[in-house]
Amino acid sequence: VIAAAGSGERLGAGGPKAFVELGGRPMLAWSLLAFGAAESIGEIVVAAPPGSEDRVGAIAIEANVEGRVTPGGDARSQSVGRALDLVDSDLVVVHDAARPLTQGSLVDEIVARLAGDTDLAGVVAAAPVTDTIKEASHARRVIRTPERDHLWAAQTPQAFRTDVLRAAIAQHPDLLGTVSDDAMLVERAGGEVLLHRTPSENLKVTTPLDLRIAEMLLADRDG
Ligand code: CTP
Ligand code: MG
Repeated sequence: VIAAAGSGERLGAGGPKAFVELGGRPMLAWSLLAFGAAESIGEIVVAAPPGSEDRVGAIAIEANVEGRVTPGGDARSQSVGRALDLVDSDLVVVHDAARPLTQGSLVDEIVARLAGDTDLAGVVAAAPVTDTIKEASHARRVIRTPERDHLWAAQTPQAFRTDVLRAAIAQHPDLLGTVSDDAMLVERAGGEVLLHRTPSENLKVTTPLDLRIAEMLLADRDG
């Protein structure tokens, strides 16, 4: 499942982030190519910005990847939920089109770890945080400073047992508007989630600066 239905407000490109050009391709194409190259992936479902389903279909054809397209929802988890309705495999990988540097090998690694351990409900790509993280009140008074050694930044791809993710989404309709990470729903439902250290840069493109950095990293990869 590729979540690509966001409007990309913080990037400010005047349209959905998935269509913004990066290294000569729409950003979404990079994730489609990675999933197309992943041996563990059978079928791809993309949640598209509503009204742009045909455009997403054309990007998939251009990337030579077979994928089904569904209109996304107002919030990310709703988009994921809709795409999940079209999935019929036992395991599913959820990925944000906003992470164009993800490679097929990472997708295969997290699927293999999930498939290899029946105790696990999910496996999540993650990187150790480098900043010190503070938990604060709305007024920005610090509540606590958790020890950095134990803190990880959750990314996508995230692999799950499909039935567990479906149940977790159904169980928390109240959270779907705000939650930014599918694993959180699975954790709340009591599922065991493992972090898989991302081997290479897997930047999320949120701001114009991120887009420039992604551009440089992709250029380095080709050269
Ligand atoms: N996403 C989605 N459906 C939504 C909102 C977000 O599928 N209703 C997807 C985005 O397309 C993106 C991923 O979720 O690939 C992560 O979201 P984010 O980085 O916040 O992207 P946008 O919501 O597009 O950006 P912004 O919040 O700046 O508007
Ligand atoms: Mg968003």
